[in-house]
This record gives sequence, structure tokens and C-alpha cells, in this order.
Amino acid sequence: MAKNDLVLGIDIGSHSVKVCQLKGAAAGKYNITALGSAMLPEESVSDGNLESPEEVGEVIGQLVKNLKIKNKKVGFTISGYSVIVKKINLAAMKPAELEEHIMSEAEQYIPFDIDDVYIDFQDLHTGTRPDQRTDVMLVAAKKDVVDDYLTMFAGLKLNPVLVDIDGFAFENSYEYNYSANENVALIDIGASKMNINVLANGVSAVARDILIGSNQLTDELADTLGIELDEAEAVKLGTRQIPEMQDKVVEAFNATCTKWVLEIKKAIDLYQANNPQFPLNHIVLSGGGSKVVGLTDFLANETGVPVDLFNPFANLLYNRKKIDPVYLKTIGPEMAIATGIAMRTSII
Ligand SMILES: Nc1ncnc2c1ncn2[C@@H]1O[C@H](COP(=O)(O)OP(=O)(O)OP(=O)(O)O)[C@@H](O)[C@H]1O
Ligand SMILES: [Mg+2]
Repeated sequence: MAKNDLVLGIDIGSHSVKVCQLKGAAAGKYNITALGSAMLPEESVSDGNLESPEEVGEVIGQLVKNLKIKNKKVGFTISGYSVIVKKINLAAMKPAELEEHIMSEAEQYIPFDIDDVYIDFQDLHTGTRPDQRTDVMLVAAKKDVVDDYLTMFAGLKLNPVLVDIDGFAFENSYEYNYSANENVALIDIGASKMNINVLANGVSAVARDILIGSNQLTDELADTLGIELDEAEAVKLGTRQIPEMQDKVVEAFNATCTKWVLEIKKAIDLYQANNPQFPLNHIVLSGGGSKVVGLTDFLANETGVPVDLFNPFANLLYNRKKIDPVYLKTIGPEMAIATGIAMRTSII
């Protein structure tokens, strides 16, 4: 695979932007050629919307420059309420027929005006014969939200050639790094949202975004301990210790993790009810919020399913003289989505 067939993966979260550049290597593997992240100003990205495109553009421009990235073809993800992901069940059709059907019938599946959204879909081929039905994954994204990103990238002289969604990018990275065809819940816990994508035998069965994330833990710590948000964030990250308040710290962690686990269990229950033939056998966590100490054990105890932190670099090659393995270990969970985008091929 020629190196410039791959896009530069850019994951714009509400807390930070992450970028990953890969290069095709022998035997279908990839080499990491550039990797980095930078914090975004508060409120510059909210619920997947670019609230302050200038500020976000400046951070991305600087990051790309610092990493000496030359690739202009970028892929990015969108998330939040402006994106609808829906699995629909239709009579199996040929690709051209399916496209025509979706474009003429999309209105009945999505709650937005059809003229206001970009539509994409993928036949999951659960049925192929004309007398069978098949599942189709339908994605609709608000044009104005996507266009804000396109305008921002144009301002940076970057060429966005691919738009993905968070959950599917994580799935892509998971499939490359781990065994495919598992019944697995992929859960990304970011700063402001949790994305859940449960795969039945390797195919997405339940996909949802929930507006809870690691910021909630900071708020809970600030409330319970009666401290400012800055200090609460430091306590959360373990860079600040308040020994006399340790009980309250534990209380805040437990309260937040309990809420997270409740939401995860709801999604898993829905999955199990609809897919009894594919019992869930694994939960894999990514995102900065997944680094909360003790969360994996807590979740495993509550669900009875083994839980692991995702390592997006498990199967990637890199030059240890250029990329510090300790840095990779630290940043791993946050890089699930960026690596997943970076494995996508540009079709332009
Ligand atoms: N060790 C840790 N324990 C708890 N939270 C952590 C830890 N390390 C980082 N975080 C939190 O993870 C969040 C950043 O994670 P991430 O980069 O996945 O978010 P994001 O992608 O920017 O946000 P989102 O996807 O929600 O828009 C921050 O809220 C940060 O405080
Ligand atoms: Mg994120």
C-alpha cells in the first residue's frame, strides 16, 4: 500500500485533539510515523459541535506542524446529537437498488429533515438471497455541523477526504489489533461523553452516545470535597493528594463509576435481550476516562464479563528511537479513535 493512500487520522474530542499517521508495512501491518495530542480550550468543542473553529484550527495547525506531518489528506470523526446511527432491516437488494431505496426512504428512519443531512449506509449482509432480509447500518449527519469541520480544515489547507464516527473508528482499530468476530462491548469514555458499540460476532449490534464522561468525575470531586474544579481535576489525575479527604475522594469515585456502570449495563442488557445467541464475552474500554484506577475491576465485578483497557498499538510497528514506549502506554486509551481513522484508505 502506497503511504499516501492512508489518511491522517484526527480525533477532535471536547478535551483534546489526537492525531495519528500510519504507513503501510509488510504483511498488512502498519508503522506509526507520527502521533500526538494537544489540549483544546474549554468549550471550543461541545457535543460534537465546533463552537470555536478558529481556536480548534489553531491547535490542530500547531500540532500538525510540530509533528512535521506532510500528508494533507485527513480523516476525522463526528459524534453527538447531530449524528444518527441506526440499524434498519430491509429486504436484501443489490447495491444500486439499496442506494436508491435508502435515498428515497431515509426520511422515515431519521428525525431530521432529509435536506439537512448527509447520509451514508453499509449493508451488513446478514442476508444475501433475494428472499432474505438484511441489516443495514444507516448514518445521517447534520450538514451544518459537518460543514463547519470542512471549513476549518480548508482554512488549515488540509483536505478532509473521509468522515467517520467515533464508535466505528474504535471498532476499526479493535479489529486490526485484536481478534475479530468476538461478542464485545467497545466503550470509549471521553471527557464529556461515553460511546458504546456492542459487536455481535464482529458486527455492530448496539451503538449509542451517552452524555457522561470524565468531566463528571471532576464535578463530583469538586462537589464532594468542596474544592475548585482545577484542584478536583488534579485530584482525579492523582497529581494532587489530599490525605485528610481520602474517604471523600473514594466516595466521589464510587458515585461516578456507579453511574457509568449503570449506563453500560443498560446497553449490555439491551444487547443481550436482542442477541441471546451471541453472549457477550468481553468488554474493552478506551478514552481518558477509562484510566480511572479500579474501573476495569469494578465493571468486571458488576457485569461478570472480563474487562480490558484497549491498547491501540498492540499490533502496530514503531521505531523505539523516535517514539517512546512509555508515552505510547500512557496515551494508548485516548488514541483508540485516531488510530482507527488512520487505518482508513483515501478513496480520492
Ligand atoms: N487517569 C485518569 N483518570 C481519570 N480521568 C482521566 C485520567 N486521565 C485522563 N482523564 C480524563 O480523560 C479525559 C480526556 O479523555 P479523552 O481524550 O478520551 O477525551 P476527549 O476525546 O477529548 O473527549 P470526548 O470524547 O468526551 O469529547 C479528560 O476529562 C481527562 O481528565
Ligand atoms: Mg473522545
